[in-house]
Amino acid sequence: MGTATTNEQEGAEEGVAGDDVSGHDHETERPAHPWFARLYDPVMRASEEKLFPPHREYLARDLSGDVLDLGAGTGAMLPYYETAIQSGAATVTVLEPDPHMRERAVAEARRLDLDVRVSDARAEALPFPDDSFDVVVASMVFCTIPDPEAALDEAARVLRPGGEFRFLEHVAEEGWRRFAQRALAPLWSRLAGGCRLTRHTGDQFGEHDAFTVADIERRHLGVFPVRPFVRGTLERRDSIEEMGADPSVRERVREAVDAARSRLDR
Ligand SMILES: C[S@@+](CC[C@H](N)C(=O)[O-])C[C@H]1O[C@@H](n2cnc3c(N)ncnc32)[C@H](O)[C@@H]1O
Repeated sequence: MGTATTNEQEGAEEGVAGDDVSGHDHETERPAHPWFARLYDPVMRASEEKLFPPHREYLARDLSGDVLDLGAGTGAMLPYYETAIQSGAATVTVLEPDPHMRERAVAEARRLDLDVRVSDARAEALPFPDDSFDVVVASMVFCTIPDPEAALDEAARVLRPGGEFRFLEHVAEEGWRRFAQRALAPLWSRLAGGCRLTRHTGDQFGEHDAFTVADIERRHLGVFPVRPFVRGTLERRDSIEEMGADPSVRERVREAVDAARSRLDR
């Protein structure tokens, strides 16, 4: 039986937090969406079978080294990590702050007999040292993270130079559909565990100073209002000095790294 080792560095419980209608556990400062967790797999089943497999394969291609899955949910990426884990090519850390989601991810790891490390931390405050991962994976999670900028800063901090940030994220529509998306957004967020429909996540990823863009594509994927998607890979630059000749760029990156570190110390 594979072990799903829980990392409790932020001191949260591994059990199930209170069912707060706000979708927030005030004691642990983490999301807590019991109904969303219960419905997630049944609602996603058709898309997982028909739409997402090639994109999840893209995220898990040729995995090696230390891998971090941000906001792993019910563990939808775990089957795609199986070969890399079982062959010893990769070690995987699954990060999921919502206890209702996390217990499902742990069950999925056990079902697949996968040895993964499990963390209850939030992506905005990763309890890992600088330069500790080779690949960070984000699948459909930057729509939900309350502070996506802090989370991307943290991904840059924990990635080793040359490491990859691989993502599949749904983003804001263009044209007339974006008005419908905006109208639906508040209700959708309440029903879908805090998911925001109208983020420009691709722009955010493409503009971060700590990364170069290896690949980024807008895809007409998904079912309205959860479409379109951006898929891609960012590479962590080698050093702050390489991040631009302009000293103000380097200064901004240093400030972002310092801010991420101080959040970690809190
Ligand atoms: C739509 S689900 C996606 C799950 C999974 N990555 C997948 O591909 O199916 C988004 C997940 O992000 C998690 N989440 C919410 N806030 C987060 C945060 N601050 N840091 C990391 N994950 C978070 C939610 O609990 C939820 O499980």
